[in-house]
Amino acid sequence: MLLNLLISLFLAPILVQSTDQALNDDVLGLIVFKAGLSDPESKLNSWNEDDDVPCNWVGVKCDPRTNRVSELVLNGFSLSGHIGKSLLRLQFLRILSLSKNNFTGSINPILAQFQSLRVIDLSENGLSGLIPDEIFRQCRFLRVISLARNNLSGPIPDSLSSCSTLEGSNKFTGQIPEDIGGCLLLKSLDFSDNSLSGLLPESMQKLSLCNSLSLRRNSFTGEVPDWVGNMRGLESLDLSANNFSGPIPNSIGDLELLKELNLSTNKFTGSLPKSLTSCINLSALDVSKNSLIGNLPPWIFNLGLQSVSLSGNRLTGRMEYDSLSSKATSYRSLKILDLSSNSLSGEIPSVIRRFSSLQLLNLSRNSLIGSVPITIGELKTTQVLDLSFNQLNGSIPSEIGGAVSLHELRLETNFITGTIPSEIENCSSLTSLILSKNNLTGLVPVAISNLFLISKIVDLSFNDLSGTLPKELTNLSHLLIFNISHNHLHGELPVGGFFNNIPLSSVSGNPSLCGSILNHSCPAVHPKPIVLNPNSSSNGGSLSPKLHRKRIVLSIISALVAISAAVFIVLGVVIVTVLNFHARPSTSPSAAALFTMSRDDDLSHSPTIDSNYGKLVMFSGEAGFVAGTHALLNKDCELGRGGFGAVYQTVLQDGRPMAIKKLNISSLIKSQEVFEKEIKKLGKIKHPNLVAIEGYYWTPSLQLLFNEFVSGGSLYKHLHEGQSENCLTWQQRFNLILGTAKALSHLHQVNTIHYNIKSTNVLIDNSGEPKLGDFGLARLLPMLDRYIFKQQDSERTWGKRPVEYMEDDVVVLSDVVRGALEEGRCGGMGRWVPSNRPDMGEVVKILELIQCPSEGEWA
Ligand SMILES: *[C@@H]1O[C@H](CO)[C@@H](O)[C@H](O)[C@H]1NC(C)=O
Ligand SMILES: *[C@@H]1O[C@H](CO)[C@@H](O)[C@H](O)[C@H]1NC(C)=O
Ligand SMILES: *[C@@H]1O[C@H](CO)[C@@H](O)[C@H](O)[C@H]1NC(C)=O
Ligand SMILES: *[C@@H]1O[C@H](CO)[C@@H](O)[C@H](O)[C@H]1NC(C)=O
Ligand SMILES: *[C@@H]1O[C@H](CO)[C@@H](O)[C@H](O)[C@H]1NC(C)=O
Ligand SMILES: *[C@@H]1O[C@H](CO)[C@@H](O)[C@H](O)[C@H]1NC(C)=O
Ligand SMILES: *[C@@H]1O[C@H](CO)[C@@H](O)[C@H](O)[C@H]1NC(C)=O
Ligand SMILES: *[C@@H]1O[C@H](CO)[C@@H](O)[C@H](O)[C@H]1NC(C)=O
Ligand SMILES: *[C@@H]1O[C@H](CO)[C@@H](O)[C@H](O)[C@H]1NC(C)=O
Ligand SMILES: *[C@@H]1O[C@H](CO)[C@@H](O)[C@H](O)[C@H]1NC(C)=O
Ligand SMILES: *[C@@H]1O[C@H](CO)[C@@H](O)[C@H](O)[C@H]1NC(C)=O
Repeated sequence: MLLNLLISLFLAPILVQSTDQALNDDVLGLIVFKAGLSDPESKLNSWNEDDDVPCNWVGVKCDPRTNRVSELVLNGFSLSGHIGKSLLRLQFLRILSLSKNNFTGSINPILAQFQSLRVIDLSENGLSGLIPDEIFRQCRFLRVISLARNNLSGPIPDSLSSCSTLEGSNKFTGQIPEDIGGCLLLKSLDFSDNSLSGLLPESMQKLSLCNSLSLRRNSFTGEVPDWVGNMRGLESLDLSANNFSGPIPNSIGDLELLKELNLSTNKFTGSLPKSLTSCINLSALDVSKNSLIGNLPPWIFNLGLQSVSLSGNRLTGRMEYDSLSSKATSYRSLKILDLSSNSLSGEIPSVIRRFSSLQLLNLSRNSLIGSVPITIGELKTTQVLDLSFNQLNGSIPSEIGGAVSLHELRLETNFITGTIPSEIENCSSLTSLILSKNNLTGLVPVAISNLFLISKIVDLSFNDLSGTLPKELTNLSHLLIFNISHNHLHGELPVGGFFNNIPLSSVSGNPSLCGSILNHSCPAVHPKPIVLNPNSSSNGGSLSPKLHRKRIVLSIISALVAISAAVFIVLGVVIVTVLNFHARPSTSPSAAALFTMSRDDDLSHSPTIDSNYGKLVMFSGEAGFVAGTHALLNKDCELGRGGFGAVYQTVLQDGRPMAIKKLNISSLIKSQEVFEKEIKKLGKIKHPNLVAIEGYYWTPSLQLLFNEFVSGGSLYKHLHEGQSENCLTWQQRFNLILGTAKALSHLHQVNTIHYNIKSTNVLIDNSGEPKLGDFGLARLLPMLDRYIFKQQDSERTWGKRPVEYMEDDVVVLSDVVRGALEEGRCGGMGRWVPSNRPDMGEVVKILELIQCPSEGEWA
């Protein structure tokens, strides 16, 4: 069969033509054409050699009058193979379109012999080799030829210019427009995406009616000749992505119809020719990625362009504008302005507000200085704003909230300071926010979590952001990248949302940030310190440097309060728990019993044993109690109540006032032996800032402690109660801190832990000196002691022993101090590691240092 075909094919030309034979020619030609192809999708199944006419075959159209094939349109049929000469049999073929297939090999010059052919579309195949000269030389009736997106090489043949009838758009893809004949006024040439090389053929200039020329993505070299200005019909000239060099010819200004000029990605040098101002209909100018020099020409903004890309050149100078007011309308048309990757200097002019239709503004990678102009808030239509890689300083204006159409905001790698304005939440269409590598400070605003569309990236890395991360960020469920690495953030990484699988590199470089991803577990929650700031109403957020030291002191006071609160709460919980476990009916004696005891004349400095009433021991002086029934453990004489029991006031026989603490933890004390041993130890601890323990009374069900009486009342009272509230001067407050620190330091020196620091335990004497009371009592409670040990062990977040537990309170202190220093830009002290923390001795020294140089400052 094939042999038959071949024989008839070769013999055909010498046979006398009859209609039947002519019809056979079409069938033969197509069948032989098909035989040489690979048709993996069986698109040509309907092509049956037994048919008399091919007019019903897929892709084939016949002239209804003659039944001869006039169109062969096989676009996108996945055919591969060569375009053989058998098609020559189709003597009345007008349209040959084989676009988007896999035809390979070179273009057969014989195609030019088609007398009838008007349209050849071989675009998007794998054709290679030179374009045969003949194809244009004999193109008498050819109107359209498209060879775009092949693998052709070599120059465009000179003969091109002889195709005076070449017309119509050959950029079509897919189907050839039905009414191709209606496009007669369109004349274009598209050789894009080949490997054509060499110079532009001079004969091209004769294509004066050509209105679109695309040589995009070839390998043309040399200068663009001056005669290009003769192609007056050009509305679109795309020479992009070649190797053209030399200057952009002045004659380009002669192309008065030009609407689009793309010279991007070549090696053009020199400056933009001013003659372009003659191209009054120009709307898109792309000369990006060349080597153009000179100042950014101000007239560029007067042309009424819609799209300007000058990026990737070597332009210098400032962004300036010609006659700003005169042609205001011409700014309104600009939609795309890309001046990126040049060497532009100066500030971003605030008149950018005039570009009221701007959709993309890319000024990145220049040497722009100054700040982000507040007028960006007037760019209501701008979707992409890229000012990255400049030397911008100042802060991000809150007016940014006016740029409501923003999709992408990039300000990275500048010197921008200040905080991220919360007005950013008005830019509700944002999908990308990149502010990395600046000097931004303050918090990560909660406002970011209201940007619900943000789906690509939030990059805040390499800034000076501090504070904790708002939990609300987990609401940003579509976010791909959230990068806050290399800041000064602290606290716990929020849990949930993208935080659950955030890469380490997105959070690293924040030493105080904690969470399981960082392999750095978070410390237990500390109560928020109460800041006792007398200037709080007048002294908003920012502190002058002068106030720094005061701030530190404030922080220390806060810290002490925080320490007390923390210890108190923990102990409170523990005690309540333990008490619940060991609740027994209280057998405390009545006041009457004590009255009896107090009348005992035998009370003396020496141990007295009274089997009925227990044992009374005074460490010094007489223990005769002058007060009667009312004086002891009577509600009227109650001084206060604490974690370990109520305190009553009384007066000894020798006139000394005495505070008696009735321990309410009696059921927890193991034995008299332990009790006596511990109290004697505590009785030996003497320090001007410690409340002295004068003696004790013991029965199995009642224990009393006799303490030095301190007349001034507690710090708590001074801070929070009565008229004395807030009456302490800064000097006094500082003294209290220092004294308290000294007391603690002394306790630590004698290996005693206070366990129960709080403002009610800091008493103030007549001379204003603080005296710390209630120390070491937790040691009386062996069970409690063990309980604390266990709990801490299991939590692991605190130190392992009570000593460290105490030091963890210092962590609170240092943390607060650190926070204060940081917020005041003094750098951190970084005291998280226990061994790095100051001991109380050091704290005393630090406090004394602080006190000395600045005594004049607080009064
Ligand atoms: C062209 O052929 C290659 C392999 O030879 C194949 O991968 C590709 O999909 C084909 N392209 C078309 C458009 O059929
Ligand atoms: C294009 O042609 C070159 C040789 O001219 C060949 O090496 C290359 O593989 C071809 N590319 C394609 C996609 O056919
Ligand atoms: C341009 O020329 C250079 C060598 O001068 C070559 O490396 C490059 O591939 C060429 N580019 C194109 C698009 O042909
Ligand atoms: C200009 O050509 C380049 C490279 O071919 C292309 O990427 C760019 O989109 C074109 N510019 C315009 C405005 O069409
Ligand atoms: C510019 O374009 C407008 C319409 O787009 C047209 O009316 C006008 O004639 C053109 N001007 C030139 C010089 O081609
Ligand atoms: C701005 O231009 C630079 C370089 O010219 C480019 O890398 C960057 O992607 C552009 N920005 C945007 C948002 O397109
Ligand atoms: C920003 O930089 C310019 C010079 O580059 C300087 O004059 C100006 O004071 C700076 N502004 C701020 C807020 O730092
Ligand atoms: C943000 O949006 C609110 C409400 O839409 C508006 O009142 C406010 O002026 C906007 N802020 C800015 C900076 O545009
Ligand atoms: C901004 O940060 C850079 C490093 O990130 C630093 O060198 C520079 O001193 C900072 N500038 C200011 C004004 O803080
Ligand atoms: C955002 O998160 C907060 C808590 O993290 C939650 O209370 C709030 O309802 C969330 N908002 C939305 C809109 O999901
Ligand atoms: C986050 O930013 C840092 C610094 O710019 C970078 O090294 C890291 O790769 C980024 N992480 C992710 C996940 O993008």
